[in-house]
Amino acid sequence: MEKTLNEIAQRLYGVDVDTKLTRPDPQFGDYATNIALQLAKPLGKNPREVAEEIASALRETGEFSEVTVAGPGFINVRISAGALAEKLQNQWSATFGENQDGAGKTVIVEYPSPNMAKPYSVGHLRPGNQGWAARQLMKATGWNVITDNHLGDYGAPLGIWITGFRLFSSDEALERDGVYELGRVYIETKKALKEETERGETKLADEVQDWLQKFEAGDEEALNYSQRFNEISLGHIHTVMNRLKISTDFELGEAFFAPQGKEAVQKLLTSGVAVQNEDGSIIVPLDEFGFDVPLLVQKSNGTALYATTDLATMLYRQDNWHPDKIIHAVGAEQQFYFSQLFAMAKKLGLEMESIHLWFGTIDQLNEDGTREKMSSRKGVVLMEELLNQAEDKARAVVEGRDILEDDIKKIALGAIKFSDFMSDRRTNILFDWNTIFALTGYSGPYVQYAAVRVNAILRENGNGEAFVAGYDYSPEKDIISHILEYPEIVRRAAAELEPHRIAGYLYELARELNRYYEATPVATGGVDDTQKAARLGVLTKVSQIFTHGLGLLGIEVPERM
Ligand code: ARG
Repeated sequence: MEKTLNEIAQRLYGVDVDTKLTRPDPQFGDYATNIALQLAKPLGKNPREVAEEIASALRETGEFSEVTVAGPGFINVRISAGALAEKLQNQWSATFGENQDGAGKTVIVEYPSPNMAKPYSVGHLRPGNQGWAARQLMKATGWNVITDNHLGDYGAPLGIWITGFRLFSSDEALERDGVYELGRVYIETKKALKEETERGETKLADEVQDWLQKFEAGDEEALNYSQRFNEISLGHIHTVMNRLKISTDFELGEAFFAPQGKEAVQKLLTSGVAVQNEDGSIIVPLDEFGFDVPLLVQKSNGTALYATTDLATMLYRQDNWHPDKIIHAVGAEQQFYFSQLFAMAKKLGLEMESIHLWFGTIDQLNEDGTREKMSSRKGVVLMEELLNQAEDKARAVVEGRDILEDDIKKIALGAIKFSDFMSDRRTNILFDWNTIFALTGYSGPYVQYAAVRVNAILRENGNGEAFVAGYDYSPEKDIISHILEYPEIVRRAAAELEPHRIAGYLYELARELNRYYEATPVATGGVDDTQKAARLGVLTKVSQIFTHGLGLLGIEVPERM
């Protein structure tokens, strides 16, 4: 119905609308929409008139048994079960909203891109969740998808690690605690550096820079350290990504690009795109794109920066993968940086569409009720710890039942990931264990439970029939019209990179299903064979949508829960 409305708005007024349907008092109809009120103002028309125009277009579709205009311009519709059933029959064999919008085009999706200096923290939870969902949505819409984990494995962290390791750690400690020891060393060294600056000294800071320069010059000792630390850190990143059930095709980090970046900077200097300052640093002016601040692409001491590596990354991707689109799943704090980077890409004549897929923070409630960004001072911050705790909570939810360990992991991940998609990604999310595991509310486990239940019914009774001619689909009217919306939801979620549309849709489907069970017996309680075959057939489609839709969000359906 949303799709029909959008098509009508396109045809009558040439605009794209995103309208939410509401459910009026049943005496007025099945659905109501205020689309006419939404459109009237920008069109400069009388809302009532717009409503009448849309209403007659709706009547012409033949999908509704009744269309009425009420009040200042609300439209109420009653859906005809017969027309729906027919539509269902035609669309039944179609894929679940998968389409070919991206056919012949290549997209690079970059996630979760953690930094290697510290253990994987909740700071890289959203990049993984949102990036993976973007990957899934792009695949579902026919794109050729290349995924890349842009590791933060270069720059000051290495210098800090080496300096700190020599001062504050030992082979034994590193052997024993792995990445957690590296993280400890990193934090302790940062603290020492800060104290030193306050004293007006630079001894440690110089040492950090020395090691970086040695590394860039190919010094053997520096290379050995780097290799050893990276192995530990990368092993840990892979462990965490496996637990999160995300992966990428490539893993080309900053370190891989640093040498190429320095070469590219030299070329830009020659061609006049970049400019060298008196102190030796090199910048790319971006005035023509409205930036007062240029992008710094090389430090005065000649070392590469974050932007140097990104410059090389863009060129490498262009030369090797010829992408039409690049999606970077990175938090909101880097918005300015990416806008500069994309301006530089334009300046270099790169034509792909670049998207910064940004999102808000993950916040936590303080004891006094205020909220702040999740941090190590308060509660969990390590990803492994968060996953352990989630598994404990999931275990408690299914307490006393015979549930597979694998299913407990699926529930734990389902709860954590779903919470990422409950509202528009740009909003900050409040992380609260009770909400994300709420079996009666808007949560991953609620949707998973609905899917598990429908699967159990199908396991016991079979899949029914895709379409039963002659059966009156009236009891299934709401569910079927919801099913029919799915392809459009996927299309929009992919086009706008808004996976929360999928989450909201699945939650509504679960609620619709629960209402349905209350009113309609499916396989027991005096249903005849025709009813049973038709109803199980509808549930089969529902089950497939749950699996597919949750899969778009990186969530699996447990066997039992
Ligand atoms: N490692 C970075 C961070 O955690 C994210 C990298 C984003 N990608 C990029 N091409 N700069 O902040």
